[in-house]
Amino acid sequence: MRSHYCGALSTANIDETVTLCGWVDRRRDHGGVIFLDLRDRQGIVQVVFDPDTEEHFQRADKVRSEYVLKLTGRVRARTESTVNPTMATGQIEVLGKQLEILNASATPPFQLDEHTRVGEEVRLQYRYMDLRRQEMQERLILRSRITSAVRNFLDGEGFLDIETPILTRATPEGARDYLVPSRTHPGKFFALPQSPQLFKQLLMVSGFDRYYQIAKCFRDEDLRADRQPEFTQIDIETAFLDEQEIMAITERMIRGLFAAVLNVDLPAFPHMTYADAMDRYGSDKPDLRIPLELVSVDDLMQQVEFKVFRGPADDPAGRVAALKVPGGASISRKEIDDYTKYVSIFGARGLAWIKVNDLAAGVEGLQSPILKFMPDDIVAQMMTRLGAANGDIIFFGADRTRVVNEALGALRIKVGQDQGMVADGWAPLWVVDFPMFEESATGGWTPLHHPFTAPSCDAEQLAASPGTALSRAYDMVLNGTELGGGSIRIHKRDMQEAVFRILDIDEAEAQEKFGFLLNALQYGAPPHGGLAFGLDRLVMLMTGATSIRDVIAFPKTQSAACVMTDAPGVVAAEQLKELNIRLRQTREAVEQGE
Ligand code: AMO
Ligand code: AMP
Repeated sequence: MRSHYCGALSTANIDETVTLCGWVDRRRDHGGVIFLDLRDRQGIVQVVFDPDTEEHFQRADKVRSEYVLKLTGRVRARTESTVNPTMATGQIEVLGKQLEILNASATPPFQLDEHTRVGEEVRLQYRYMDLRRQEMQERLILRSRITSAVRNFLDGEGFLDIETPILTRATPEGARDYLVPSRTHPGKFFALPQSPQLFKQLLMVSGFDRYYQIAKCFRDEDLRADRQPEFTQIDIETAFLDEQEIMAITERMIRGLFAAVLNVDLPAFPHMTYADAMDRYGSDKPDLRIPLELVSVDDLMQQVEFKVFRGPADDPAGRVAALKVPGGASISRKEIDDYTKYVSIFGARGLAWIKVNDLAAGVEGLQSPILKFMPDDIVAQMMTRLGAANGDIIFFGADRTRVVNEALGALRIKVGQDQGMVADGWAPLWVVDFPMFEESATGGWTPLHHPFTAPSCDAEQLAASPGTALSRAYDMVLNGTELGGGSIRIHKRDMQEAVFRILDIDEAEAQEKFGFLLNALQYGAPPHGGLAFGLDRLVMLMTGATSIRDVIAFPKTQSAACVMTDAPGVVAAEQLKELNIRLRQTREAVEQGE
């Protein structure tokens, strides 16, 4: 129907007759001349109808916002006084000759340029309208360019795109499963994949060497700005490559992607150990754009009476750490109180601080509620260790190591943002040498990554000290977001069984849940490994969006629902019967909260 996209027109098209199809962004009546801003996915162009084209002028007079039109006209230069420099097509306009109304529109639920006035709920309910906004169009177009660039790269490197099932068995990635009842096997359920993890490993056993898939994953977990119940991974697996090679090839992919799509040359990706990241940033996904670091002062605090600090300093499972903020002495008491409240979210029981007013004056030049508890020479040693300077503030956390890391790690980001210390640009890194396990709430071990990750030691060493064993896992982090993660996998049955034993999965359970994997490992499974990137997070960062909901065409709300289709929905009693499912309460009882 169309000859050009509205947004693609330029001075190069002057005097051409063009046919456009699109939506009415705005209609203005200027003393007998009608201006229509016509919009399509490429942008907006101004179309003018004057009364000379009588029939078409009459029609133009009738159109309203969001009508769909097809129109033909001649491109002409705007006069100097009417050029609009804020518009991509602002040098030109189209003199309308013919106009056909392809469809009318009811009054839109919200003005597209006033989307911020309505809540996100309304935007999601009328998502098809929300997606007409230029910003949303640009994001989804960029998303498509990103997946296309990724496919080109991986195809070029000899990766094969192979699909894996959606109706499957549970794959443990640490979240709850979405279950699908089986009609043909009464009382049994499929699980939607939390990731294609086991299938991609089996494809390596089959000899496919290099696999990728842009794969939908399903996880029933608490949602945040960077988590959705249904999301997309760029899922990769390889055989016969070690972790250095896998990191190198995927780093090349991301680097090429940023160059091709954003024209950005990413800086080097430093490799940082997990231990180092936790120590210096209190996080396994440090935002390296913020030039603040945590510094341990346990040894010094072992020499003070102040119980709040002395206790954690003496405790091997505790930590006392300092966070120096250059120039932060101007932070007010009220702000310090707010920060104290903020760290309490992470379990911190307080937030001690020292302001450095005049270093040369010794302790007299410092201001703090905790100085009275500390010998002067300890304070002096601390100032030296931290490289304190006049005008700084130093915050302290003292507690179990996990609490201190989470609290000061989060404070580091918050203060960095509040103080305008976040550098422009991109700060990627690899985090490596993760622990194999962490202690679970019930005292057992849980895998830090997933239970198929290979340890860097042998099975005996692993069993002897699960708490200190490291894995062959790696995460790619960009600007404080975990973009992707993966590992070298276990490819021998006895090692996989050893890991299951440490995880307290007995033989019967291992056989029941993962028998197919254990069997496959017996038939010549090659050494293999891979990783998966969160595509939504990648697109979020590359488009500058603040939530992955803004880069997914039809996302779920924070409560994991789709307000547009009203899913999840009730199903007919007949359907439940067919599936052999009886609800424990009647629907009415559930709704009434009985
Ligand atoms: P992992 O669980 O770390 O690893 O997931 C890989 C990447 O997927 C993204 N991601 C999410 N994105 C949006 N919403 C979510 N709920 C969500 N959960 C995860 C993150 C994360 O880095 N099978 C392994 C990969 C492997 O070992 O190869 C896995 O799924 O960006
Ligand atoms: P208190 O003796 O409880 O008044 O605490 C003195 C200072 O230490 C206050 O600034 C508290 O916020 C701070 N504080 C208390 N507990 C902790 C903790 N666990 N970590 C860091 N600072 C703390």
